Amino acid sequence: MNAISADVAAAAGAAGGKRALSRFATLRFRLILSVALVHAVLMGAFVWEAVRDQSAAIRAQLLNRGHELVSLMAVASTNPLLEENLGSLAEVTARVKHQPGVVYGEIVDVRGDVLASTDPARVGHRDRRSLDVNDTFPLKRGDHVLDLSRQIVVAGQRVGAVLLGLSTRGMDTALAGTRDRGLLFILAALAAGSAAAWALAMLVTRRLHALIAATRKIAAGNLDVRVNGGSRDEAGILADAFNHMVASLQRSSRAVQHEHDKRTEAERLACVGELAASIAHEIRNPLAAVINAARLLDEGALPLEDHAEAVTILNTESQRLQRILDDFLRFSRMREPRPVRGNVTALVREVSQLLAHDPALPERVRIENHAPESPCHASFDPDQLRQVLWNLMLNAVQAMPGGGRLDVATECIGDQVLVTVADTGDGVPAEIVDHITRPFFTRRKGGSGLGLAIVQRILMQHGGKLWIDSQPGQGTRMRFQLAAA
Ligand SMILES: Nc1ncnc2c1ncn2[C@@H]1O[C@H](COP(=O)(O)OP(=O)(O)OP(=O)(O)O)[C@@H](O)[C@H]1O
Ligand SMILES: [Mg+2]
Repeated sequence: MNAISADVAAAAGAAGGKRALSRFATLRFRLILSVALVHAVLMGAFVWEAVRDQSAAIRAQLLNRGHELVSLMAVASTNPLLEENLGSLAEVTARVKHQPGVVYGEIVDVRGDVLASTDPARVGHRDRRSLDVNDTFPLKRGDHVLDLSRQIVVAGQRVGAVLLGLSTRGMDTALAGTRDRGLLFILAALAAGSAAAWALAMLVTRRLHALIAATRKIAAGNLDVRVNGGSRDEAGILADAFNHMVASLQRSSRAVQHEHDKRTEAERLACVGELAASIAHEIRNPLAAVINAARLLDEGALPLEDHAEAVTILNTESQRLQRILDDFLRFSRMREPRPVRGNVTALVREVSQLLAHDPALPERVRIENHAPESPCHASFDPDQLRQVLWNLMLNAVQAMPGGGRLDVATECIGDQVLVTVADTGDGVPAEIVDHITRPFFTRRKGGSGLGLAIVQRILMQHGGKLWIDSQPGQGTRMRFQLAAA
């Protein structure tokens, strides 16, 4: 993965990885819920209003009819009452009895005695209901009869009254029917609204999901991915903008990759040249000694007593050549790193403890390990990073033959892990600081001069970098950084 796609991967990781969608946090769920709620509230209000209107109309109709019937009864009963004609009064109640919805009808005299009734058994009873009628809505709970009455007054004199009971069951059934139909209507509207919202949500979120999937592919390093623009609405415009952005990202990525390849090739060539120069420099002296000794032996010009010395020179110098060749092969055959995510802090502690227990460690060298409270993680090849740390710490210890302090620190700074190895040794003169990382550069007797070259090469392969600060006579500070993981 190149640098740009790595950045995108990091961003997508933050968005996609950490923000795993809960089922109820999805746009689709919220859209359906809001449309369903709006539907339910609006339909509920509409049905409630309709039931209220219908109920008022039916009640008014029932009351009108009741008043009409009571008035007719009163008119028809006036003369028979004055004449005390019970037969005519009975005819009036008999006629009323056949009217639809009539529960009872009675005619009473001024004392409240029933003179005629739709229920003949009640004739002769005294009825107090003429004083206690229930003719307004709402009726008492469980009461399904609307009671009405009318006083019969002749020349300012009360002569009796008519009582009428009308059943409200028909009205109640009609209202319950309207309510049930309204409820069904609400449910149907809810279902239809939710289905419509679901379809709409699918339409919108399908495109969003396509965008999310495409972003994830880009994060995985595939910059060839594009999304289908589809219609000319906002989602289509977003898809076009997205495709445009990916195309320009791909162009920049190619340019960066090209630059990177060019630089890597140039660095490789420079490295080869530098290495060749180093080897040439290293082998020049021993090779000259070998050639010289061989030539002297060959020419026979060498006195016999010097032959043994010439052979010794041939032996030691050719062995030196052999060692240089072995070192060179070891350096040039370094394998590619096999990075895994690991704890840098723990590895630093492990190597510094290993060094602290090394019997070759000068007695007066004190090792201090500064580790952060929470460990720093990075992606690295454990064997190779262990070698980097070992080479740096060993160099530091070797720079303090008379003792001193070695400080090793790990720090997690933003998305970087910084490791510092600082000593209070003899330091490096400013004019050679730039050379000490060259292969075979050494100022130490018995040193191969490959320690820092290996460090630098491993760090480069890990995408890291080595910084060297040194004050001759005061000490050296080596730092390198790795991308945190
Ligand atoms: N911490 C240090 N303080 C002072 N000089 C240093 C330090 N680290 C490295 N140097 C100098 O840099 C030179 C190169 O170091 P490098 O580790 O590459 O090789 P080396 O230590 O000489 O040999 P070896 O291959 O055994 O490591 C050393 O010889 C030494 O002079
Ligand atoms: Mg070394």
